Amino acid sequence: MNGFVEESIRWATPVKTFMRSATADTELRGRKIAKGDWILLSYHSANRDEDVFANPFDFDITRKPNKQIAFGSGPHVCLGQHLARMEMRILWEELLPRLKSLELAGEPKWTKSVFVVGPKTVPVRYAVN
Ligand code: HEM
Repeated sequence: MNGFVEESIRWATPVKTFMRSATADTELRGRKIAKGDWILLSYHSANRDEDVFANPFDFDITRKPNKQIAFGSGPHVCLGQHLARMEMRILWEELLPRLKSLELAGEPKWTKSVFVVGPKTVPVRYAVN
């Protein structure tokens, strides 16, 4: 379950971007960054980084370690990350034993946003025990 939750968060990466301002001149992978420059953090890109994840475009709940950074990192790392993980875990722990079947019943639609994204609608057909 923990692997499933962690991989789902990596896969979805609900927050697309945040900004940072460089506090000092620096260089990152050959790119010069000047003090005061705005830096765009792309969480989607980071969570598909081939240097960090083997087969990043595979949904693999057995990844170990799973170094997804959908909650950010550093001093501003998401304060709600443990609650978010717990909500997902409890949802599936409670739902899975009750489900006899679950299947797509239409085309899922994605939200259109430059900031927070996720499935807008996911039509499903299901049967419960
Ligand atoms: C899957 C769900 C969630 C995702 C993907 C997410 C993602 C993020 C990200 C990417 C950041 C910015 C981190 C950075 O700048 O380095 C953030 C910050 C934050 N998140 Fe979340 N978050 C989630 C759920 C929640 C929940 C449930 C809460 C509160 C109950 C919450 C509260 C916050 C707060 C207060 C900050 C700002 C922290 C700061 O600036 O010091 N988040 N989150």
